[in-house]
Formats: sequence, structure tokens, C-alpha cells
Amino acid sequence: MKYNFNETINRRGTGSIKWDMGDTLMELGYAERYDEDTLPLFTADMDIAVPPCIVDAMHKVADHRIYGYTLPTKEYYEAIINWFGRRHDWVIKQEEIVFCPGTVFALGVAVRAYTEPGDGIIIQRPVYTPFTTTIEGNGRVVANSQMLVNEEGYYIADLTSFEEQAKKPENKMFILCNPHNPSGRIFSKEDLRAMAKICKENDVVIIADEIHGDLIRQNSIFTPIVKVADDTDHIVTCTAINKTFNVAGLHATNVVITNPELRSAFQKELGMSMPTPFTIGAVVAAYNEGEEWLEELKTYMDETIDSVIDFCKQNLPKMKCVRPEGTYIFWMDFRDYGLSRDEIRKKIYIDANVILEEGLMFDPDQGAGFERICLSSPRPMVQEAFKRIANQFKGM
Ligand SMILES: Cc1ncc(COP(=O)(O)O)c(C=O)c1O
Repeated sequence: MKYNFNETINRRGTGSIKWDMGDTLMELGYAERYDEDTLPLFTADMDIAVPPCIVDAMHKVADHRIYGYTLPTKEYYEAIINWFGRRHDWVIKQEEIVFCPGTVFALGVAVRAYTEPGDGIIIQRPVYTPFTTTIEGNGRVVANSQMLVNEEGYYIADLTSFEEQAKKPENKMFILCNPHNPSGRIFSKEDLRAMAKICKENDVVIIADEIHGDLIRQNSIFTPIVKVADDTDHIVTCTAINKTFNVAGLHATNVVITNPELRSAFQKELGMSMPTPFTIGAVVAAYNEGEEWLEELKTYMDETIDSVIDFCKQNLPKMKCVRPEGTYIFWMDFRDYGLSRDEIRKKIYIDANVILEEGLMFDPDQGAGFERICLSSPRPMVQEAFKRIANQFKGM
């Protein structure tokens, strides 16, 4: 490999949520223990250096010595348009792109722009926690269409309950997570087409969070929902380099909205929002020059994930997991160990000293006994975390 993804970079002292915020994590109940031996593998950013093209771009911006107000440049738009055209066969027009400082931020804007307090918003649990907090924090109501799961732990959309929810007049929006966090599922084209059609027929706006769409397994295929929908005027898609190129701190989200009315409502709610010069530099560099790095990273991630699955078969035999098709997020079902929530927490969070995210955060009804880990650190660190966790479940 050309890039050394095994390199460990010390992130302490940088304000990293994972590596510096122990007191806050304990205050929020994320962790009961946090010290210099803690492995915090809970949040979805990578402990892996960004591609050199982004480092060079950051140097170039820094060396300019003026960091004034900036707006997306022609080069910025072209980089996005070329990337999605080249990699996803998706033709985006410049005027359809709206910059937004972060994807969760964009979800909040969309919720306020397209729904009223008290309206219902469909999500598919278990799902990324900020979907729920954004909906409820804005006075809207969660309308859950629970994902279906088979014996092996493979999740798919439940189109029957989805349609039931979409038909309820109070439900005005659907937030799609594809690839799906935390299950790692990439929705099939058929399911995406069906969900788009159901939403169209029932006047439900779709906010497609496709932030993980570029970081998938080498043999997986990801299709943006707009590519399979018969009609795209009810679809708003959030794309970003934040996960793919490990620049979440630059908040580089681009929202694609083909319908001019939806676009202007979004822009009105968004207000004045400008990318930093660093964000512009990173987007241009990532999309124009980051492809080779990304392909290597994907291979590295595949190998990490496969090594974890092999290890778990041998050493955590009762833990159920499925190879994620997209994302580096790994969803683990510990229910067959028959332990209480406190017992699982003690084993993993205190005795193994590894911080994960509890299933209940993703699904308050059916998430008990599940844990989410991000396999986005150098492989030796990930393997160490699994060794520690397996030690706690030895002989059970
Ligand atoms: C599905 C999903 N959407 C959004 C985000 C956060 O995106 P951003 O940092 O752009 O707000 C995450 C981060 O884990 C995520 O998994």
C-alpha cells in the first residue's frame, strides 16, 4: 500500500471529542471510566491521517495568511459535480448545490424548513441518534418504521410499516440514512425506488443522508436515491467529505436540492452560511485528488472489518454481527450472553476500558443489548479493543 493507515497519531491535546473530552463524556453518561488507557471507539471519525492532497491544500490556505469571508468557488462546485458524475453517474447542476456547515446542521434546517411543530417525521430505527434529537429538539414527532432483522442480524427496510407511516397525514418528512448507520446496510435499488414512490404519493419530503455513501466495501454498490427515484422534486440529498476523507471538523456538507421551491425554503431557513477557506480547499482537494487514497482506504477498512469478524467468531462466539456493506460502523448484538445493561457496561466500558455507543441510543425500544463500535482507527488499535472486550466475555 502507498499510504500507511496503521500509523498512530496522538490526538490528545487537540480538543478531540474522542481523545480529550473524558470529563464531558462521563458527565453525559457516555463513559464511567476515562484515563490514558481508554480506547474511545464510539464516534464516527477516523484516527487515520487525511490524504496528503488535503494536507497540502490546508498548507496552501494557511500560507496565504488571510482567512476572510469566503463563498464556494467555481472550482469548488466543479469538484463536487465531477466527483458525483464520475463515481455515481449522478449529474448535478451547480445551482442545485447548497453549502451547509455540517450534515446534522442540514437535517435541522430541513426539519424547520419543510415541517411545522407537531408534524411527524419518519425514521428507520435503529438509526443514528441525532435523527431523533433533531426531530424532538425542534418540537416534531418521531414516526418510526422499524427496520426488519433476520436471525443472522441482517437488517432491511420494512416497506409495509413505511407505507403505513407515510400515509398518515401528520407525517410530512422522511429522513433516510443510506448507507444505514448503525446496521451498515446499503438499501437495495428496489427499496429506494419504492420508498421514493411512497413518499411522492403521500407528499412526504425525503431528506437523504448519504454522508457514508463513498466509504463502502470494495464489492458493495451504493446508489444515491435520486438515481433510482422516478421523480426527484421531493428529495433533498446531503453529501459530504466529512466521513469519507476524515475532515468532520471542517463541516463540509453539500446539500443537493433539484426542486427550486424546496431549495429556496432551505436557503431561507439556513440564512447566511459560508464555508471557511480551509473547507473550500479540502473539498476541492478531496474530490479532485483523493480518489486513489480513498480506494486504498476502502481496502484497508475491508481487511480490518474481516479481521474483526474472524476474531469475533473465535473469541466472542455468542456476539452476533454482520459485515457492514457500507461505513466503518459495526453493530454488535450481545443479547445471547444474557447479561443486564449494567453487566455489559461494566465489562466493556469499565473493565475492558473501551468506550462504545449503546444500542439504546439508536433505538430506545429494541436497542438493549446492542453496542456500536467504529472500526475507523488503525487496525492494531481496533484489534486491541476487541482483545480487551473478548477477555471480559471469555468462557461465557
Ligand atoms: C448518518 C450520519 N449523518 C451525519 C453524521 C454527522 O455528520 P456531520 O459531521 O456532517 O454533521 C454522521 C456521523 O456519524 C452520521 O453517521
